Amino acid sequence: MDSNIPLESPSLSRRQLINFFTGATIAVPAGYALYVAGKFLIPPPEKTGPGGAIPAKDVLGNLIPASQILAESPGTRALVAGLAGEPTYLIVKEDNTLDSIGIVDNCTHLGCTFPWNPIDQQFQCPCHGSRYAPDGSVVRGPAPLPLKIVQVAVIDNSILISPWTETDPRTGEKPWWA
Ligand code: FES
Repeated sequence: MDSNIPLESPSLSRRQLINFFTGATIAVPAGYALYVAGKFLIPPPEKTGPGGAIPAKDVLGNLIPASQILAESPGTRALVAGLAGEPTYLIVKEDNTLDSIGIVDNCTHLGCTFPWNPIDQQFQCPCHGSRYAPDGSVVRGPAPLPLKIVQVAVIDNSILISPWTETDPRTGEKPWWA
């Protein structure tokens, strides 16, 4: 009897072919399903205007018209979603216009958000007690740096927020975040 039977048999390559088609049959619909899910779950990149400006939005992603913020009393710090969704305070000035500087609600110590205290006229971080002046400069640590600021402009009742890249008006130096 011949013991030299070839190890490779035609059925092996047939099995590989079947495995390939089985895998492809599963992979194609699964890939398509992932593509469709990704289209819904991953938001498209936000369109930005000149200078990287984006419109101010609320927590649900709805645009906030300037008239809505300006209906608040002077001195109001209104929280909106700003650049990259960062919570940002917009300030209603005494002349019922919006301040051209917005304050990002992100403590420079360890990143907590904080409220505006209208009695003390300070931003006061509840995490470790840092306090900031109305312009975002540090009044009391442990915060090491002034709060990040952004540019705010109103055009046709739209609020546009853009990155602050010029000299930091509080320090007279290049912004620490730019
Ligand atoms: S995170 Fe604000 S003081 Fe520590």
